[in-house]
Amino acid sequence: RIPVVIDCDPGVDDALAILLAASRRDVLELLAVTTVAGNAGIDETTRNAGAVLSLTGCDDIPLYRGAHRPLMRAVGRRAPVHGADGLGGETKDLRARPADPEKPAWVALCDIVRSRPGAVTLCVLGPMTNVALAILTDPGFAARVHEIVFMGGAAFTDGNVTASAEFNIFVDPHAAQIVMESGIPLTMAGLDVTRDVIVSRSHIEETWARYSDRAAVFSRMVSRYADGDPALHDPCVIAWLLDPSAFTTVRGRICVDCREGPDFGRTVVARREKHMGPEGPNATILMRGDVARITGMIGRALEEL
Ligand code: BDR
Ligand code: CA
Repeated sequence: RIPVVIDCDPGVDDALAILLAASRRDVLELLAVTTVAGNAGIDETTRNAGAVLSLTGCDDIPLYRGAHRPLMRAVGRRAPVHGADGLGGETKDLRARPADPEKPAWVALCDIVRSRPGAVTLCVLGPMTNVALAILTDPGFAARVHEIVFMGGAAFTDGNVTASAEFNIFVDPHAAQIVMESGIPLTMAGLDVTRDVIVSRSHIEETWARYSDRAAVFSRMVSRYADGDPALHDPCVIAWLLDPSAFTTVRGRICVDCREGPDFGRTVVARREKHMGPEGPNATILMRGDVARITGMIGRALEEL
């Protein structure tokens, strides 16, 4: 099994990503979930992660609360498309497991990675603040991480917050740049691939909504979210780990534009050797995904819930 930690800001699509990972614990060893402010504030994203873990039968998975704001920008941007509670208004009736009261997410990341050197894959589904803090806190952290697979950025397409920038990178570009230059092997699921991962409302209503009461909670969330953003971004990270053959990729070197201006938060991707410099590529970049296979994985997870 692949040992993974999911670092996230649930978020409707983050919730689906947790669901997908939880449904394949035969393939993924889910070591912990860590939360960060992004789609909503840290109180909401942490409560939502706890609720989704309970809903998906993962009460045994440790939950750690992370950064309440980006590294350098004073207040994080929120994504209203996920609703004020971050889960399309679905959380009020859900039981939410609390996070560990002692250990913040970045310390947990350092401890988990130290206990399994070279083995742990970090699935980063929100702003990269916690991972940057782990890199800054522990000088040995980066060398011990097996890989980071993240949803963020737009390699060869336009952004979703500005013409240049994707939400997760835009919220904390400085953290993202620390991660990009950390030397940790990266796989990027950016808008190039995630934007196309769409499920029609009729499919949701005719199939997903009919499986079980718990599946219906997810279906309602997704239906509401789809009014603002129909794309299921974050589950692509998990789908890649479960079945890389569902994607095409290229190699490149990513950095983040952190200068104020129209390209603020843009992921700049070099593909030619002469543009990458002596260090060469730092990332595998997902380009296209087999949408039917990816959404089929999510559908199966809901059917089994
Ligand atoms: C990303 O931003 C968030 O709103 C989603 O959860 C996803 O991680 C897409 O740009
Ligand atoms: Ca997210």
